[in-house]
Amino acid sequence: MPQHYDLFINNRFVPAVSGETFESVNPHNGAVVGRFARAKKEDVDLAVASARKAFDEGPWPRMSGEERGKYIRALADKISEHTPAWLPLEVEDSGGTVKKLQGDFWVSGNHLKYFSKLAEHALDDTLSDATREGSSKNMIVRKPLGVCAQIIPWNFPLMMAVWKLGPALAAGCTLVLKPAEETPLTAMLFAQAVQEVGLPEGVINIVTGYGEEAGAALVNHPGVDKVAFTGSTEIGKLIMGEAACTMKRVTLECGGKSANILLEDADLDIAIDGSLYAAFFHSGQCCTAGTRLLLPESRKKEFLDLLVERAKQIKVGNPAEKSTDMGPLISQKQLDRVLGYIEKGKAEGATLLLGGHRLFDSGFYVEPTIFDNVTPDMTIAQEEIFGPVLSVITYKTEEEAVQIANNSIYGLAGAVWSKDTDRALKIARAMRTGTVWINEYHILTEKAPFGGYKQSGIGRELGPDSIKAYTELKHIHVDELKSREKKFWYDALLKPVSLSKT
Ligand code: NAI
Ligand code: MG
Repeated sequence: MPQHYDLFINNRFVPAVSGETFESVNPHNGAVVGRFARAKKEDVDLAVASARKAFDEGPWPRMSGEERGKYIRALADKISEHTPAWLPLEVEDSGGTVKKLQGDFWVSGNHLKYFSKLAEHALDDTLSDATREGSSKNMIVRKPLGVCAQIIPWNFPLMMAVWKLGPALAAGCTLVLKPAEETPLTAMLFAQAVQEVGLPEGVINIVTGYGEEAGAALVNHPGVDKVAFTGSTEIGKLIMGEAACTMKRVTLECGGKSANILLEDADLDIAIDGSLYAAFFHSGQCCTAGTRLLLPESRKKEFLDLLVERAKQIKVGNPAEKSTDMGPLISQKQLDRVLGYIEKGKAEGATLLLGGHRLFDSGFYVEPTIFDNVTPDMTIAQEEIFGPVLSVITYKTEEEAVQIANNSIYGLAGAVWSKDTDRALKIARAMRTGTVWINEYHILTEKAPFGGYKQSGIGRELGPDSIKAYTELKHIHVDELKSREKKFWYDALLKPVSLSKT
């Protein structure tokens, strides 16, 4: 019998008002992993009311950053403590490989620790005593923004939850988190940890449910001050429009079509494996996936031969086996979508070099797929596929490579591989993306901001400024009434002007 999970509202587990549930399935074999409460508008109303009360009346925004930091640190420790129990369940719920999830869990704990430190140091109530003239002074104060709705996708379930709730908690906000309907499990396990840590009531609320029900109800709720979203560009745009109804603050991390540029002097041994990792890590279900591989015409054949040879060595299969490199896609919907793009690539005239088919009788598996002779205008060079499909495009000059790389509605990430760092840096600076790796891929650090140019999103997560996206700035002008002559209207601001008598 699959386990049942309720909603988490005001530190208590409660069923949906309607009593309805939905199931999440194991992408490896389609088995039901868990049964989850299906939140709708009435449940979202309760969750927002709980977060609202915790923000307007509760201790969380009022306690010192240092105290909040201690709670956040305790949550980080809970991730480490529960990793042995949670990780195998996350393999079943998300189809992520053991290798991938070991990384995710470790990173999630570390990032949460980083946010706990940000809470201690970054949000001093008074930022500056900007000017002092006589008995008056101007203060610039940063305050927690309020109640935040946080909507996350299925590709990095725990890590996305941490990236959202970490800075919000650090800043003193309260929140309602909605995990993706495909992967609600770790969020509900995390809710148990919230109870164990004894976080004040209503600070973290978690509602499981569908995007168009629970997600949309959050985005439209007048009691919500901010929406933070990671997911498709399509839904990101929709959310931006709907958030306008109450002028909610919005941060969005959306799609990508990242260019991975190999220069002719690239260290092939590193660059080829790096490029395969860029494109096929987590079966290509990463917003940063390096799905456009730009090869120099002068060495194309040599590069491509090695690429295909190494791609054949990628071990695809059951994500629960420790040696597996690439597991299944998340769902039947995603499988159909990816196979549809492969057909489109063929129809538009790209050359299928490797893969292109579904694998195994059950589960949502697709082979590592490589298309050659892709031109920048083709659908598979422009649209985010979110599957193991790599489009190879050739270039003649560095300028052309940059121009092809920037020919995209997206601008999330990209990479350059070269032995000449200065040359690679010049290209990195010219790429219109939020992240560029040189001789590396997919590595993010909590110390640097992450987010997109153009339709890849708005705002940045991680880094020392991440907490600022969960604050409002306030100016307070104080007059301490020392040696104050009463002056109002314009007299106090204007210097006396002598008027000419002529
Ligand atoms: P999606 O954007 O529909 O889902 C992401 C989250 O948004 C989920 O929690 C979902 O429940 C929620 N959501 C959906 N509709 C909503 C609405 N009307 N109001 C509020 N919340 C809503 O993405 P989906 O359908 O899972 O995947 C489709 C494509 O999106 C993928 O093929 C991929 O190209 C892209 N994607 C990008 C991600 C990224 O990391 N940037 C992550 C997931 C998907
Ligand atoms: Mg969707």
